[in-house]
Amino acid sequence: MIVGYFQFSPEFGNKDTNLEKVQDSLSGVNADLIVLPELAFTGYYFEDRNELSGLAEDASDSNTVNVLSKLCKNYNLYIVTGFAERENNKLYNSALLIGPSGLISTYRKIHLFNTEKEYFDPGNISLKPITINGASIGLMICYDWIFPEVTRSLAIQGVDIICHPSNLVLSYCQKTMISRCIENGVYAITANRTGTEVRPRGELIFTGQSQIVNTKGEVLAHSNVDDDELVIQEIDPLEAKQKMLTENNHLLNDRRPEYYDVLYK
Ligand code: ACM
Repeated sequence: MIVGYFQFSPEFGNKDTNLEKVQDSLSGVNADLIVLPELAFTGYYFEDRNELSGLAEDASDSNTVNVLSKLCKNYNLYIVTGFAERENNKLYNSALLIGPSGLISTYRKIHLFNTEKEYFDPGNISLKPITINGASIGLMICYDWIFPEVTRSLAIQGVDIICHPSNLVLSYCQKTMISRCIENGVYAITANRTGTEVRPRGELIFTGQSQIVNTKGEVLAHSNVDDDELVIQEIDPLEAKQKMLTENNHLLNDRRPEYYDVLYK
């Protein structure tokens, strides 16, 4: 399976420009699955709910989704992208899985970061796997990385590849994702954005360094802090089905949840 990410710096509020950039950059790409950053078309640092509301789209009636669906159809490709989603009067920081036949699945960020809590509604959809081309993939968004429960919930459900659209501003997610891959025996594609947003609330500098990590925690691809980059990498999702650490240790079956009950209180 050929997977990858496109790391770039979305222009705040300029959905058409950002869509053109993604279309141009993915034109002719030979891949099965490409991950884009969190909020890849709107930008990130909203002034307030009103500004977000003006840019968010209903995924079932969205120019962004239509353009990406055509891209997927043209190149027989699946895309996971961050997306500012409106559903009735709710606004979610979402990740969409889009394929040649259109929108397939939506995940809404359950752990909102910092000021996101002021303008987004918290996600309300359980973490679940989706199968494409024989591989099971799971979606999570940026700050979800700091909760090991997220990757674990996906791994327990058989996910092989974690797709992780991000707009990271802290510097240690990438290192942590290596552990998340080792402890769960999964791949992870973290597609982070680059650049700076200077907005009414202040300035945010995004940290780039998107990466693809394999089931043993080896970094197969890693970008620098600020270049636009389309990275493509061949992986074998079947490796994520192999959970034996030694001949006597299975990563998931060795768990003793009856002793972790404090986690569920
Ligand atoms: C983040 O969750 N965008 C830091």
